[in-house]
Order: sequence, then structure tokens, then C-alpha cells
Amino acid sequence: PIPPLIQVNVRDVNDNEPTFGETLYKASVKESAGIGQSVLTILATDLDEGPNGEVEYFFGEHTSESVKGAFDVNVKSGEVTVIGNLDYEDVKMYMFDVSAKDKGQPELTGHSSVKIDIIDENDNEPEIKLTSLPSPVSENATIGTAVALLNVKDKDSGDNGKVELVVAPGYPFKLKPSFDNHYSLVTDSLLDREVNSEYDVQVIATDLGSPPLTTSKSVHVKILDINDNRPEFTHASYDVYVRENNPAGASLFSVSAADKDESKNALLTYSIADTKFQDIPASSYFYINAENGTLYSMNSFDYEKLKLFQIVVRAKDQGSPSLSSNATVNVFILDQNDNVPVVIYPSASMGSVSHQRMPRSAKMGHLVTKVTAVDADSGHNAWISYRLAEATDSSLFAVNLYTGEVRTKRSVSEQDDASQRLLIEIKDNGEPVQSTTVTVDILIEDGLHEPVSDFRHKASEKDKKNSKITFYLILSLASVSVLSLLTFFILLIKCARSSRGGESCCIRRDSDGYKNPNRNLQIQLNTDGPIKYVEVLGGDMMSQSQSFGSYLSPMSEFSDLTMVKPSSTLDFKDTLRGLDASLPDSAWTFECQQVSTRCVVISFVRSSF
Ligand SMILES: *[C@@H]1O[C@H](CO)[C@@H](O)[C@H](O)[C@H]1NC(C)=O
Ligand SMILES: *[C@@H]1O[C@H](CO)[C@@H](O)[C@H](O)[C@H]1NC(C)=O
Repeated sequence: PIPPLIQVNVRDVNDNEPTFGETLYKASVKESAGIGQSVLTILATDLDEGPNGEVEYFFGEHTSESVKGAFDVNVKSGEVTVIGNLDYEDVKMYMFDVSAKDKGQPELTGHSSVKIDIIDENDNEPEIKLTSLPSPVSENATIGTAVALLNVKDKDSGDNGKVELVVAPGYPFKLKPSFDNHYSLVTDSLLDREVNSEYDVQVIATDLGSPPLTTSKSVHVKILDINDNRPEFTHASYDVYVRENNPAGASLFSVSAADKDESKNALLTYSIADTKFQDIPASSYFYINAENGTLYSMNSFDYEKLKLFQIVVRAKDQGSPSLSSNATVNVFILDQNDNVPVVIYPSASMGSVSHQRMPRSAKMGHLVTKVTAVDADSGHNAWISYRLAEATDSSLFAVNLYTGEVRTKRSVSEQDDASQRLLIEIKDNGEPVQSTTVTVDILIEDGLHEPVSDFRHKASEKDKKNSKITFYLILSLASVSVLSLLTFFILLIKCARSSRGGESCCIRRDSDGYKNPNRNLQIQLNTDGPIKYVEVLGGDMMSQSQSFGSYLSPMSEFSDLTMVKPSSTLDFKDTLRGLDASLPDSAWTFECQQVSTRCVVISFVRSSF
């Protein structure tokens, strides 16, 4: 018999729970993962069938919101995807429970865990922080002076978080690492505020990630001034021209200096150095505005006393220690025609009368006298001309415009008055013209033959004058007269001895004198005690002596100079130049022998006439 077949249908009961393949799922995802990116898939199996074996996936019961914000678990497929922003720097790892539920009645649940590691990426730039405010540094700071403290950070990990900090090229600074990402910014060379008064130092931080990320920051460093520049005048020397007789207190000029430093180190004050002019300090002639360098005259100047002032002006800054510079201001005094010509021969003060004698036998061209005047001014202002302004008989006398020689225009006749008066006007060439006059009374004497006596008489007439110049003039004229007389007598004797050619002898020599313009005169300036006198050692003709006589007074006047200054040769040359200027038709050279401190022997050579 066929055993009865009993078909037993075993009906499934939900007696198997879903089982995960792993108790812990591990995965990793880059922090840069985009939304929707799949991370892993969890899988659970259920041995039951039908709904009892249908599995659905869920987060574990106590899963935090942060996990739910970052990931999603697909109910059906178990795929875990990214749904939020991941940031390694916030959360480095996510760990959460997952469950799988079947659809049986009652449902059964399986459990597992998921660990997702977030992979760091170089997504954070290094961060530079100033840990101290940059301190200003003075321009003379030694190399290595700290200016600021810096700190650098990078949130990334590993190489992504390792940072190198450098100063951009071109700055005189460098970074000195101290500890643990701290640096000090120090000077790397000598600084000069006058070149760069401040710096915005670029420091650059670069991490070692790939690709690396870079940040830069500028650190403002102010350079402090040191008084290391002296004031500089716009010019080393200035030339200023001032007319004499300028009003006292007038502003003359402005000097100006600049200082490259700043504030007090560049604040300048001007002053005049303590020099002296003829023993008077410069500060009594000039004043300088200390603030702006404007130069004022404290006095009216006299060209005839001082022609040039050399003032040293100084500019000084207010630094500590202060620095200063000098400049020279040459103040040239310009001549004005402020001096009247002065008649030095014939010696007669304004208005008084000079007396001259001449023989009635005088021929045309006879030299009666020679008027000589000097003018203390210079150049054109001292060019003197002579003019016959009035005359008793203007047909008889003429005055040479340049030399002042008074000569007869014709022979004197018996009809001419014995007393003749001439008014001679002496003018300079300045603007305005200054002039003076001299009155010359001429006595025409019948018995007189030689001009020699003129000098003797003249000499005896002058003895009342007490001025120095006149005194020397008298002395010199006396000497000349004595010499003239001596010559005259020698000549007379010579002429008398040579049978009867006396008269012609003299005439011959006289004309010789005019033909030969080169004469030698030896003059000795004697300075015994307080009295100075002039001795004539050589020379021959009367006419020569006469014109020479007129030289003596200016010469003796300037011989004062030779007394005062040891090296007076130059002064004397100037004197002679002055003489030449007032007597344009002659040129004189001279020799002067220096004995101890003065010039004692002078020989004059007149080289042209
Ligand atoms: C300097 O200052 C004085 C007085 O204040 C003024 O008269 C003069 O004009 C100034 N000079 C310059 C160059 O500014
Ligand atoms: C300026 O001149 C004074 C004297 O006048 C002198 O002592 C000083 O050294 C000079 N200064 C300079 C910088 O030349």
C-alpha cells in the first residue's frame, strides 16, 4: 500500500530577522564630495519569504541630526549618499547605526554600524595673524631689529596644514622663526627714511598641499626719522649787489636751505657767522631773519670804505644733535657818484685862491700850472675832466680837458694884464655829475725868466696849510724846488763855462726833455718817526718835475697804507693805477723795494707821454 501522502505545507512565519553582511561598514569620502555622491551600500538578507523577507533600511534610532544632515540611507537599496556639506575640519569621521526591517508581522529588525571617514583635502588657506602691532623703527636701526610678531595657521591636516611663511622679494625685511609657527619680522638691511618713509611689507604663507594654497598679508611699518642730513643751501655762495648809500634796514636778499629730514630735524634757523669787517662784527652790518633767511642791511654802505663783504650764513636744524651748513654771501657794494672831485694841486680849498707866477717872456704853450684832482669814486664816477670856466683873458690860457695842464694859448704880450684870474671847473663823469672849481690867480712878472722860482714861492706860500697831504706836498715840492734850483745852478755853471752858449745850453736840454719821454725818477719815501717825507733822487727837467710834483700828494697820501700793511706793493700798484686814470696821457710803472715792513725806494718810469 502506498503510504498515504501527507503533504504538509510549512507556512512561513517571520522567524528570521534581516541580517547585515557586516557588523561594521567602513567607507571614506572626500570632504569635497558633492551632494548625491554614493558612499557605500549596506546589505542585509532575510531568509524568510514574501513580505517577511522584504528588507527596508533605516538609520538607527539614536542617529544624530548631524548625521542625518550629511547622509541619507536609501530605504530600498541601502545606498548611503551624501546629502549635505562635508568638512573635514568640522567632522573627521561619522559613525552611526543602521537597521534593516522586514515587512513581516511582527517585523523583525537587524542592526549594523557604519563608519565613514572624511578625507582631508587642501581646502583651507593658511591664515596669517599679527600677534603684536607693528612698531615703528628708526632709520638707523641695526640689522635684525624686530618690527612685528606674526603667527601662521592652516586648518588642514598633514602637509595641507604645513605652512611656509616668507617676505615677498624687494623688502628690506625678513622673517625669523621663533617657535611653533610664530615668526618675528626683522630688518634685513639698513634703512633710510629719506628714501622710503614707510613700507607695506608683503608676507606670503604657502602650505605644502597639492595644489598649494597661498595667503598674503601686508604689514605696515613706519620708519622714524633720525637727524642724518645736514641742511643744504641752494648755492654754496651767493653774489648780491647793493648800491652804496642804500637805506639801512632794507632787505637785500634771501638765502634758502633745505633739509631732507623731517619735522624738527628739518626745521631750520638761519644765522650769520661771527666774522669781522675792519674790526666790526658782521652782525652790526647785517641781520638775517632766522626763520626765512632774508638778509637785511643794518647800515648804509660806503663803497669808498668797503667794497665787498663776505658773510658766512649758517642754516642749522633743530635735531639733536643738530646739523648745520654754511654758505658765503658776497655782498658787492656798487659805486654811486657820491664824491665830489677834490683838487689836490694847486692846493686850495674850495673858494680860496691859488697864486701862480709866470714870466712875461712866456711863449705860446708855456705850462703855467697843472691842476690835479682826484675823485674817491670809481670807474666812470672818477673820470675827471678839467674846463676853463672863466678867465680874465680867455684868449691867453687854455686848460687841457684830460690833464688839467694850464698853458698859454699864445705868447704873452706887453699889453696883457699882469694879474690874470682863471676859474677852472673840475667835473667827474658820474650820474649825476659832481663838480668843483679852483681859482688860479696868475701874476705875470716882467723880470721873471725861470719857472723854478714858482716852486720856491709856492712852497713858501703853503706853510699855513695844516692838513697832512698839504704838508707832504710842501715837503715834496720843497725838495723838488731845491733839486730844481740845484740843477739850475749846475746848468748855469756848466753853461757859463762853455764860452757863451749858456742860454742855448738850457734850451737844448729843455727840448731834449720833450723828445725823450722815458725818464727815470728816483723817489725815496722816508719814514723817520711820525714824519714822512719824500726825497727826490733823480729826474731832470723843470716841466717833468712840475708834473711830478702833482703826483706827490696822492702818493704821500697812500704811503700811509705802505706803513700799515707789510705787503703794500699791491696797494701801491692800485694807487698808481688810480693816478694813471686821473692822468690818462701817461703811464707809470714803478719799483718798490721791500725793507722790513715797508716799501722804501720806488723808482717811477714814465713809459709814454
Ligand atoms: C621773511 O619774513 C619777513 C618778516 O616776516 C618778511 O618780510 C619777508 O618777506 C620774508 N621773506 C621771505 C623770502 O619769505
Ligand atoms: C661754518 O663756519 C664756521 C665758522 O664760520 C665753522 O666753524 C664751521 O665749521 C663751518 N661749518 C661747516 C659745515 O662748514
